[in-house]
Amino acid sequence: MLEGKKILIGITGSIAAYKSILLVRQLVKQGAEVKVVMTPAAREFVSPLVLATLSKNAVVSELAEGSEWSNHVMLGRWADLFVVAPLSCNTLAKMANGLCDNLLLAVYLSATCPVVIAPAMDEDMWQHPATQRNLDLLKGYGNHIIPVNSGELASGLHGEGRMAEPEAIIVFLVEHFFRTSELAGKKVMVTAGPTYEAIDPVRFIGNHSSGKMGFALAEELYLRGADVQLISGPTQQITTYAGIRVNKVRSAAEMFDTSVAIFPGVDIAVMSAAVADYSPAETAGEKIKKQPGDLSLLLLPTKDILQYVGTHKRQGQYVVGFALETQNEKENAHKKLESKQADCIVLNSLRDEAAGFGVDTNKVTLLCKDGTEMVTELKTKKEIAKDIVSFIISRLHAE
Ligand code: CTP
Repeated sequence: MLEGKKILIGITGSIAAYKSILLVRQLVKQGAEVKVVMTPAAREFVSPLVLATLSKNAVVSELAEGSEWSNHVMLGRWADLFVVAPLSCNTLAKMANGLCDNLLLAVYLSATCPVVIAPAMDEDMWQHPATQRNLDLLKGYGNHIIPVNSGELASGLHGEGRMAEPEAIIVFLVEHFFRTSELAGKKVMVTAGPTYEAIDPVRFIGNHSSGKMGFALAEELYLRGADVQLISGPTQQITTYAGIRVNKVRSAAEMFDTSVAIFPGVDIAVMSAAVADYSPAETAGEKIKKQPGDLSLLLLPTKDILQYVGTHKRQGQYVVGFALETQNEKENAHKKLESKQADCIVLNSLRDEAAGFGVDTNKVTLLCKDGTEMVTELKTKKEIAKDIVSFIISRLHAE
């Protein structure tokens, strides 16, 4: 995801410096070009040799090494982003006040690229008014602050001040580089995953939907700048971006209620969930015991959420439905477009072995109320999500 991005990592003297090793490794794995600058104190915590090996670049920490002068201006100009992680209380104070007694600080003061900081310190230091004032000063300089976590601290105490995990820092960087404003100001709801219809306290009727397509769509919509609410049935999926609000539901009835509550406030609804069409008429209060002979369950139809939003949409709201078909695919998808009053239907066919439930790839046909059609290649669900979102944006512009 970060191919070709030039990222300069600044490491200061803090126990959390061990996390920088993982950060550098993951950034390189994601295709970024990484250079490291350390304060002299940071060298007490992690070895420059490890960082040089992982980053594939020499690690610098002195303004002059032997007879060589380190060109701090060029390092700051080389980078697309300067990430100081961990940022100790001491270096924070120096940055806030423009001190320049080591190479990292000289790079900071001369950097022309955006600066991101991930502080790390004990809770009492974190909460001190001087620290908070220094953070405010950095914010005022336009630096981006990755919030600290709560948890066990180096002192053995529990509290606020832990440096964000490398994964969270990478998510922050991905958002910085890739979140666009194409859908800025647009509110979107996405339904995803299966629903479980309880038979008794231990059994349910479900389906094979993994939720991968819906989660990929929610993330792609978020990366295009939308404010995303995800309504998810039971899945193993997790969202990468903390900015996506997740509403967890279980049954078709719960998904209906949540969707109906959220829908009036959104501009776009993407209904990718595999909602059960039928649900047991009654849920037994106790586990149903095995009896001789057959067992019949009476199933009643669930409410169709897509149909509800399609028929209740107001001017300007755009509704995307999904159709999973095994025969007469296009004809059935067109029928769904009509009957559910969607603006667009994403047709999934189970004919392709590598498309559909559980797998990472998919191939879809998009059919629009205005007659436009688009067929994708077989691609990863993340790539399909990009195509679907680009298509939706193009239709919104065409309206
Ligand atoms: N859908 C829904 N609520 C339901 C059933 C389906 O919102 N109770 C939505 C799905 O999220 C999807 C679309 O309707 O966007 C079509 O789902 P699909 O299972 O393909 O079609 P059904 O309407 O269930 O019809 P059939 O099973 O006969 O194909």
